[in-house]
Amino acid sequence: MRRLEGKTALITGAARGIGRAFAEAYVREGARVAIGDIDIERARASAAEIGEAAIAVEMNVTRQDSIDAAVAATVEAFGQIDVLINNAAIFTAAPIVEIERDDYRRVFDVNVSGTLFTMQAVARHMIDNGIRGRIINMASQAGRRGEPLVAVYCASKAAVISLTQSAGLNLIRHGINVNAIAPGVVDGEHWEGVDAFFAKYEGKAPGQKKREVGEAVPFGRMGRAEDLTGMAVFLASDEAEYIVAQCYNVDGGQWMS
Ligand SMILES: NC(=O)c1ccc[n+]([C@@H]2O[C@H](COP(=O)([O-])OP(=O)(O)OC[C@H]3O[C@@H](n4cnc5c(N)ncnc54)[C@H](O)[C@@H]3O)[C@@H](O)[C@H]2O)c1
Repeated sequence: MRRLEGKTALITGAARGIGRAFAEAYVREGARVAIGDIDIERARASAAEIGEAAIAVEMNVTRQDSIDAAVAATVEAFGQIDVLINNAAIFTAAPIVEIERDDYRRVFDVNVSGTLFTMQAVARHMIDNGIRGRIINMASQAGRRGEPLVAVYCASKAAVISLTQSAGLNLIRHGINVNAIAPGVVDGEHWEGVDAFFAKYEGKAPGQKKREVGEAVPFGRMGRAEDLTGMAVFLASDEAEYIVAQCYNVDGGQWMS
């Protein structure tokens, strides 16, 4: 039996990478999925490849009108939203003395405000319609501890873990479970940008940082997007009904908490 049969989901930032793998896994498990992404062309291409259970929805999580429009478009297409995955995020790195206020704002706007206000919009929809829904926020091992060159991104992901705890405690009274997933290092286009930052600040050759972090993972390699889909399906499934306000590490043994 498929575990998400009849469910509908909105997944932000799902045009590529981990979010796209979530969309594919949800469709395999019987769900219909809206791929909400600022890169609408890529979202459309991904939806077309996944098949008719997937649609693309233009969405910039930094803008309230865009969040509201994406939620409305998903509800119009599917009738309701049972599951939200707040997956859209951006990365930045710099030594403390070089952090720029605009870059800090840009990252917090997507990673923190985007997560909070998308969660709010979907929670309102769920409460208004008596939907016992699920919300999954994408945190990171970066939210578990600081890193010398990654202060802003680490702080944004720590905020995602904290928001998950508060929202989880607040929304469970409406039958809405809020939890988070904290990946370690996951191969994909995202890491091209991360690797470039470390090449700049640590003087590494292109690809070197990525190789080093992969070798340092206790499991023995970097994560793949597919390594995370089991947890994302489980948290949306009936089996996870009693799980509230938690953040699960899916990271090959990188972090224990
Ligand atoms: N890749 C990793 O190593 C890693 C590790 C830990 C956590 N994570 C987290 O997992 C999630 C997915 O990571 P990924 O590697 O697939 O990232 P990615 O960069 O490959 O994909 C991010 C997606 O978000 C979209 N996006 C960016 N800004 C947006 C906005 N304002 N509104 C809507 N969409 C927007 C992008 O267009 C892109 O499709 C993120 O939350 C990330 O922080 C990733």
